[in-house]
Amino acid sequence: MEQSDQQPLWWQSGVIYQIYPRSFRDSDGNGTGDLAGVIEKLDYLSDALGVDALWLSPFYPSPMADFGYDVADYCAVDPLFGDLDTFDRLLAGAHERDMRVIIDFVPNHSSDQHLWFVESRSSRDNPKRDWYIWADAKPDGALPNNWLSIFGGPAWQWDEATGQYYLHTFLTEQPDLNWHNPQVRTAMLDALRFWLARGVDGFRIDAIHCVMKDRELRDNPPNTEGIQLIHRPQPEYDSQLHVYDYATDELHGVLREIRGVLDEFVATGPWVGIGEIHVFDWPKWASYYGQQLDELHLPFNFGLLGIEWDAASVRELVVEMERVIPPGGWPNYVLGNHDEPRIASRIGPEQARVAMMLLLTLRGTPTIYNGDELGMFDVPVPLDAVQDPWGQHTGTMGRDPERSPMLWNASPSAGFTTPDVTPWLPIEDGYELLNVEAQLADQTSMLTLTRRLLSLRRASRALTTGGYQPVDGVPDDCFIWERISGADRYLIALNFASQPRTLAFPAHPSGTIVLSTHLDRDGEELLTTFELRPHEGCVIHVVPL
Ligand code: NOJ
Repeated sequence: MEQSDQQPLWWQSGVIYQIYPRSFRDSDGNGTGDLAGVIEKLDYLSDALGVDALWLSPFYPSPMADFGYDVADYCAVDPLFGDLDTFDRLLAGAHERDMRVIIDFVPNHSSDQHLWFVESRSSRDNPKRDWYIWADAKPDGALPNNWLSIFGGPAWQWDEATGQYYLHTFLTEQPDLNWHNPQVRTAMLDALRFWLARGVDGFRIDAIHCVMKDRELRDNPPNTEGIQLIHRPQPEYDSQLHVYDYATDELHGVLREIRGVLDEFVATGPWVGIGEIHVFDWPKWASYYGQQLDELHLPFNFGLLGIEWDAASVRELVVEMERVIPPGGWPNYVLGNHDEPRIASRIGPEQARVAMMLLLTLRGTPTIYNGDELGMFDVPVPLDAVQDPWGQHTGTMGRDPERSPMLWNASPSAGFTTPDVTPWLPIEDGYELLNVEAQLADQTSMLTLTRRLLSLRRASRALTTGGYQPVDGVPDDCFIWERISGADRYLIALNFASQPRTLAFPAHPSGTIVLSTHLDRDGEELLTTFELRPHEGCVIHVVPL
């Protein structure tokens, strides 16, 4: 348990909301969301919902081989999404409403259409040749080493014109930048400076575990013990231990340099650096806060995405977080994003409510994925219409299901785009009832629950930066903890089971339910025992002895 007496920073007390712009709101009727669409929804985000910061997935110029994670220019906006002026208006509109804006930064790879790569591949002696990772075939013609692409197949692509291979940890259209080259570092750090000078409040740093690969390009050893690298099985990628191409020791130096750039802007900060770090060896994961807390402010914690959804596993994860995070480091939790099955599809709509209560009341910064506040589900896509390149490679729906458009109202395209336009991905069935407008009017909806949790959290020091104390001796299937700040005390009690559970709190003779996930118990006074109904979570204001 740790309690901070200092005034919390915005990224510690606040709630981050991830916007996947392609799927959020299409303002110009071409079937794809855009930045002007986000501007239209700023009032929703700040007033109706009440989040504190927006994280925008990439909007940079891009051939869209990986929907913007293949960047062709780090300092501009793709016409599909708008232009720099639209971005500035979005930023100003968010700031006027006291919301921060975090943008995605994609350091591991650029697009193969980026001019840097076009130059790099033009000849072996081009000054930018070493900006990417090129290697000769082995004398017998074999690949330079055994490294694999996370999207399938070898990580090497042969370039006929110059007779060498280049490295791509993701698609062949996403060549890996060579962060060992000082010019690359300078150019990439300058891109951060470009956006910081424009006024952004921080970065979500994509696939940061992939930069700084082994300089000698050594083969990864085989994975003989079946160790799974991340929270989901990747049979081919997991056939080796990613010793030389993933989360290497040299990554720490890069993170310190990135942090140094944020610190250059300290006079107008504070800024936040959030890293996409898929490392599930928790002590190693925590090392990316930095020994002097000088690396990432928040290494994204994807723990809740992979564990079994039961009280014991969730509690164990929280215990582990509280154990490994270095003193002064700040926790964070995530239930979903544009790469993961939706939480409501994974654990069911009733537990999705419990999960939202968990996310918004644990000690640490929560990140909500757009649509999860509505309890959106994964939306299936016919296999011959899959958009996600990873899905196309693997013959699956890939990540399309979790990227289906936001549901705004009951009009034919759910208010995502103009009614006669086909959205880039299908709209969820049942949108007539699941949409924002309908849920705002329904006092028992998932959106109402999310809004109430957000406003409760915002109003309470205990629930934002207060201490965390798990409660022992509770029934199986329940996870209960306290959040405490001085005399401000809350008990959060979650029932993961489909049966009721009776709880006793000898330490607290009385309390008042301020919120149930069922939204029907406000103000109920509790004495020494009370019952949690199936799939119910409650936030209880504890009245001191
Ligand atoms: C992680 C991003 O979240 C994902 O969408 C993308 O495909 C890869 N990194 C590659 O940039």
